Amino acid sequence: MRRVAIFISGGGSNMVALADSMTGDHPARPVLVLSNTDGARGLEKARARGIPTAVVDHRPFGEDRPAFEAEITRHLTAHDVDLIALAGFMWVLTGGFTGAWEGRMLNIHPSLLPKYRGLHTHARALQAGDTEAGCTVHEVTADLDDGPILGQARVPILEGDTPETLAARVLEQEHKLYPAVLRRFASGDRRMLQLP
Ligand code: GRF
Repeated sequence: MRRVAIFISGGGSNMVALADSMTGDHPARPVLVLSNTDGARGLEKARARGIPTAVVDHRPFGEDRPAFEAEITRHLTAHDVDLIALAGFMWVLTGGFTGAWEGRMLNIHPSLLPKYRGLHTHARALQAGDTEAGCTVHEVTADLDDGPILGQARVPILEGDTPETLAARVLEQEHKLYPAVLRRFASGDRRMLQLP
């Protein structure tokens, strides 16, 4: 059984989708939900599911990112974590940390990578006049929103879409794609998954 830590910073809807998928014959279980802010609304949802939580606030560490990451590592070790799933974790990890977890850390990004790395993906897709958008699950490497792609889900962009309506349509797909990819990944299958 693979032991999964899910990192969040916000509402945690992807964390909930992942955590709720890891039951029965699933090859993994959620053992820790970690946030870099105690304001993450997802922490409450994790607690309600009986999943241990940890908050490692980045602010007291200032520029000392390795010290921040050492504190995260302390929690990962304490919970004997095998895999990390970043799920709306809005904090960039250093190459030291991503290198240590390479091949064992996933992220979901709300665009069809390699398009639109970084923030404001939906506004950028609309501005570019794209006809479709989507989300990507990828392995995390030192470069932001890069790394081997494990799965993508596409949605149409509709007339009258705003960043908010598009984000909601993509988020629905995130909740399908991420659990499906994690399940495959935890069982050693790294082939790319295309949804729908
Ligand atoms: C998702 O759109 C994710 O792709 C992005 O941040 C959002 C997190 O939402 N990076 P939630 O916290 O999972 O609800």
